[in-house]
Amino acid sequence: MMKILSDIQFTRSSSTRIVVGSVRKTLAELLPKGRVVAFVDAEVEALHNLSELIPESVVIPAGEENKNLELATMLWQELIESKADRQTFLLGIGGGVVCDLVGFVAATFMRGVRFGLVPTTLLAQVDAAIGGKCGVNMGGYKNMVGAFAPADFVLCDASLLSTLPEREFRSGLAEMIKAAIIGDGELFTLFEQNDLATLRGKEALLEEAVSRSVAVKCAIVGRDPYEKGERRILNLGHTWAHAIESLTTDYTHGEAVAIGTIRATRESLQRGTISAEDAERIERLIARYGLPTDCTLTDEQLREAIQHDKKATSEGIGFVLPTGIGGIEN
Ligand SMILES: NC(=O)c1ccc[n+]([C@@H]2O[C@H](COP(=O)([O-])OP(=O)(O)OC[C@H]3O[C@@H](n4cnc5c(N)ncnc54)[C@H](O)[C@@H]3O)[C@@H](O)[C@H]2O)c1
Repeated sequence: MMKILSDIQFTRSSSTRIVVGSVRKTLAELLPKGRVVAFVDAEVEALHNLSELIPESVVIPAGEENKNLELATMLWQELIESKADRQTFLLGIGGGVVCDLVGFVAATFMRGVRFGLVPTTLLAQVDAAIGGKCGVNMGGYKNMVGAFAPADFVLCDASLLSTLPEREFRSGLAEMIKAAIIGDGELFTLFEQNDLATLRGKEALLEEAVSRSVAVKCAIVGRDPYEKGERRILNLGHTWAHAIESLTTDYTHGEAVAIGTIRATRESLQRGTISAEDAERIERLIARYGLPTDCTLTDEQLREAIQHDKKATSEGIGFVLPTGIGGIEN
């Protein structure tokens, strides 16, 4: 059965419907009539054979190294050669890389065509696919070229996560813990009362946790769809995470976010803006799920990378610091 979690309004005429349900049972209901071209993550295809759901499916390589203009160009070419037009609906099935890439291709092909997403990693379900940001990496920088382009729908199917390698699963959990800290104290408690094995083993529990995390992001994005203010609280832990990711490939994005969240929490503790009890709960929970709590890079190395990133992107450093569990004072 399909459960509608939220409708995020971007403009008066564009919104994204966020749905939880089985892809095999509900995808057909969400797709518009007319031509649909699906781009499917190669690893997901090998494991779940989802291309059989869409007559026109193109299997594409996944992984961060493919989130670039070369692959985007291949997708544009594929659309041109197959005579896609402005009415063609695109569908992205895969992890965050495929979601970001297909969103970008849809946003730019013929000045924009409609699209939907079926995120297949935990990180993509709770974060990457939600919120209308898409893009590719360039010149060694992440998401340098991109757009805000809301999907028509995002369909999250928890059963697809059963094949996710444990490390990728943990990576998604880091973003969920972040969501719990900034917007849902009960979700934080749910994580404290369970562990990795129970979450992976009980689909209904996982679906509840996914739905709650998604709800936190949807509420914030709904109030600030184009990141003019409040939405930046979703970047908790990310300033450090991006610095870590620019210096080493030893950590997944989620692992870097976990380390960054702890650094932000310690900074809050030093400034006296979070209680020692909440700070301890955050550190304990991150460790409970087997996520790293620290990295080998020195503070100096990280601060230098943060400055460099700031210059490259002309964005302020803008650290987001937690002030407690379940809510953040912006
Ligand atoms: N647009 C946004 O707002 C936003 C937010 C957060 C992250 N992101 C982006 O998301 C990307 C990271 O996403 P990710 O962690 O999903 O990485 P990913 O897309 O690279 O997927 C990780 C790996 O898991 C595989 N995979 C996908 N689904 C699977 C499944 N069900 N079973 C087994 N394997 C599966 C993929 O093929 C890949 O090898 C980054 O590029 C990041 O910048 C975007």
